[in-house]
Amino acid sequence: MNYIDQEDALNYAIKEKLGSNAKYHIMTYGCQMNEHDSEKISWVLDQAGLQATDQIDEADLILLNTCSIRHSAENKVYGKLGELKAKKRERNLIIAVCGCMMQRKESRELVLEKFKQVDIIFGTNNIHKLPDLLLQHLETGDRIVNIEHSFQATDDQLWANRYFSYKSFVNIMYGCNNFCSYCIVPFTRGREVSRPSKDILEEVQTLVDSGVLEITLLGQNVNSYRPGLEGDYNFTRLIYDLAEIQGLERIRFMTSHPKDISDELLKAFKDLDKLCNFLHLPIQAGSNRVLEKMNRKYTREDYLRKIYRLRDLVPDIALCTDIMVGFPEESEEDFQDTLDLVREVEYDAAFTFLYSPREGTKAARNPNQVSQEIKKDRFDRLLDTMYPIFEKKNKALIGKTLDVLVEGESKHNGRMLSGRSDGFKLVHFEGEKDLIGKIVPVKIQEANSFNLGGERIHD
Ligand code: SAH
Ligand code: SF4
Ligand code: F3S
Repeated sequence: MNYIDQEDALNYAIKEKLGSNAKYHIMTYGCQMNEHDSEKISWVLDQAGLQATDQIDEADLILLNTCSIRHSAENKVYGKLGELKAKKRERNLIIAVCGCMMQRKESRELVLEKFKQVDIIFGTNNIHKLPDLLLQHLETGDRIVNIEHSFQATDDQLWANRYFSYKSFVNIMYGCNNFCSYCIVPFTRGREVSRPSKDILEEVQTLVDSGVLEITLLGQNVNSYRPGLEGDYNFTRLIYDLAEIQGLERIRFMTSHPKDISDELLKAFKDLDKLCNFLHLPIQAGSNRVLEKMNRKYTREDYLRKIYRLRDLVPDIALCTDIMVGFPEESEEDFQDTLDLVREVEYDAAFTFLYSPREGTKAARNPNQVSQEIKKDRFDRLLDTMYPIFEKKNKALIGKTLDVLVEGESKHNGRMLSGRSDGFKLVHFEGEKDLIGKIVPVKIQEANSFNLGGERIHD
């Protein structure tokens, strides 16, 4: 795809229709995959001569990059589209909706029918086509809908406007083949496709050359990374190859599936200084009966074995997980298994969810759904169990010195900076703004369930 040609045509059309300073505003819902897609969308629009704005009222084009993972995620988008209806009555505005919701026929049709003010709809596999679609809309005034159901190699040629200069997301694969029985992602993102390792290594080298210190490799299940035509090349080999890149300080990845995480990858945490001592390993539920119904393909014993093996190799590894309560047929006893597992593993952090039935998935067809009241009660009890554990783990760091990649000024206090430790702990400390984007040692003095406070050590 040649952006230069498009840029001319599009620039001309936009200038004619919208004036010479056309601005866009992107609202992103959902996971890191979507955040990174928004960075790509932003780059594509910049190439087409538009400018980003964080002020919604200044924007000529508003894009909603949507998520389908839970009912609540979709509802947020419907709510926002309702608000935009009024804005569009007041002024000339183009509204585009993209992302996972638009990959689903049901949500797409609902948007088409109920929100007539939406001008452009596209999916997760055709970001590269956005300038074309915008041009078509500007020329015809028609509503433009363009969805591709499988991954398009052209999308892999896109660059991205990284929101941070010192840390970046890098896709290593797209889609998911696992079909966990509750999950919509295989339906929205399609089947797994791994990027060639050469492309990933080149992208990371370019990022590091521009000053990036930390990369987060993205995939729904990074452990099944298998680039075609590269023999037995796999995720662990990719990590070792990336660790060779001079100037790259930190490697993170997400997400890892417990059934596929290999011993060689666990060993890499010990071998490689650059691989951060942090693992996000979603368990989802502690009961084997529920895990089987979820189609997760591991037992709690398999999971715990991997955790113990990793803790043997790297005793201070920080562990994070995803847990869902109220999966169909989950009994009180099943839920107690989840609480037991949480107490046994002692996670550092967790993402917790109320199970949300997603149309088209197997679990949504189960007639024995758990009531919302029980889900909420279990959710509260889960948090009551987890928060003291997070606090205990964080308090154990008091007195230790952690290397912190400084990300910005603290939201609550302008004199304070905040950043992330190697173990992904949020650390606040006093310091000057010129430290942003640097890795500095911080001695931890206080801690609660969610963050740490400390003092910068001058070496
Ligand atoms: N690929 C990642 C997860 C992506 S979705 C993995 O397998 O780990 C992120 C999290 O959302 C999941 O781990 C799960 O805990 C949660 N989730 C997915 N579908 C859900 C649903 N239908 N209801 C509630 N939570 C859900
Ligand atoms: Fe969804 Fe399971 Fe795939 Fe994760 S591994 S994206 S939870 S189907
Ligand atoms: Fe991510 Fe939501 Fe899609 S979690 S992959 S944006 S459904």
